[in-house]
Amino acid sequence: MALRKISKDVAIIGAGAAGMMCAIEAGKRGRSVILLDHARKLAEKVRISGGGRCNFTNRHATAENYLSANPHFCRSALARFTPQDFIALVEKHGIRYHEKKSGQLFCDNSSQQIIDMLQHECAKAGVEWQMPSQVQRVEHVSVNNDEQYAKKKFLITTERNIVAVDSLVIATGGLSIPQIGASAFGYQIADQFGIRVTSLRPGLVGLTFTAGDFAGFKDISGISVDAAVSCAGVSFRENVLFTHRGLSGPAILQISSYWQPGKPLHIDLLPQQNAQQIFLEYRQSALMLSNLLACYLPKRFVQIWCAVNFAELLITTKPMNQFHDNELRQVADKIHDWQVVPSGTTGYKKAEVTLGGVDTHELSSKTMESRHISGLYFIGEVVDVTGQLGGYNFQWAWSSGYAAGQAV
Ligand code: FDA
Repeated sequence: MALRKISKDVAIIGAGAAGMMCAIEAGKRGRSVILLDHARKLAEKVRISGGGRCNFTNRHATAENYLSANPHFCRSALARFTPQDFIALVEKHGIRYHEKKSGQLFCDNSSQQIIDMLQHECAKAGVEWQMPSQVQRVEHVSVNNDEQYAKKKFLITTERNIVAVDSLVIATGGLSIPQIGASAFGYQIADQFGIRVTSLRPGLVGLTFTAGDFAGFKDISGISVDAAVSCAGVSFRENVLFTHRGLSGPAILQISSYWQPGKPLHIDLLPQQNAQQIFLEYRQSALMLSNLLACYLPKRFVQIWCAVNFAELLITTKPMNQFHDNELRQVADKIHDWQVVPSGTTGYKKAEVTLGGVDTHELSSKTMESRHISGLYFIGEVVDVTGQLGGYNFQWAWSSGYAAGQAV
């Protein structure tokens, strides 16, 4: 049986954060919009985000909070739809929220409120839904025979129908958490239309270590230390969490986006203290060095860290007054620059985001439209713009969705 054909102004594939924002804005402009998604449940990533409370934006979001081969690309969209604009929407819907730290805003109750708000705004803007629905094929075809002024439309073939549109927006997100519907669809469409995609890798993700390198630390999984973690000239001061597989916690998730395989991480275990100074103060004391360190760091961590790094110095059994100066210097140096080389990451199954994506040189920074394929737009995480941890990724989804919503 032939598939039913329907016509709309705009089709948006991917009804996540960016897709819904784009649909709302396009609908408000009087465009007929259809949102297509293959998932059964709406906006699962929004639902699980921020531990169920959705860190929906960051008050201080600027281009400096994003990684991209073209760091200036996100400026225009972020300036046109700001964190304050999203906060105004949240407040209009009476959603109560709080600031956790450094501008990170979370719902007081549940991330479901953000989904409900977006769904409500879509309904008001007359957006039509088709989900779950599998997109089987996308074609770009001429609809008249006038060679000079050929008008082209996108034909989207699904299991139910063929949707013909003037504008097609790809908002299918990145590869992380395939269990809840992430797919490579957006990158495949880019590839189909000859649009470059930069190399992809998991970001905001835990780091793993080989069993040998990490022997001992497995026993302290669940323990965390407040540390400054650096690599590639970038540093984050937050908690580092020991896990069964390696390191996680906010400082590690942040630095994972900057880490390159084979390179060490530099961990300052006492970022606000001077270990040399502390040792000097207790130089003549009969206190065990490990007990002194345990005044500043978790005791079980100190025992394992000393055994792994300084087995020969007998730190756990020798008092301060029996160490040589150069031995204490070595320990102090390592406290401020403990270098570890991760073997990898916990991968897309656990990552919060995908680094890389549709090459921003291929898109207009004002509208997110392809420079070569008129009417084709990419928004949200599928684009090579990735935020740091702290509400920046949703802000990019809202801002890029808004930008395309004004243009489609
Ligand atoms: P998003 O992933 O939201 O939506 C993509 C949509 O496309 C999905 O609905 C999917 O089903 C659909 N889709 C995919 N393939 C398709 C196909 N082939 N056909 C049809 N539909 C398809 N960020 C932040 O700022 N604050 C936070 O608190 C968190 N927390 C967080 C926790 C966890 C566990 C994760 C994994 C991620 C976060 N993030 C976050 C990141 C944030 O969730 C992410 O950057 C945004 O959801 C990206 O928005 P998009 O709309 O681009 O993709």
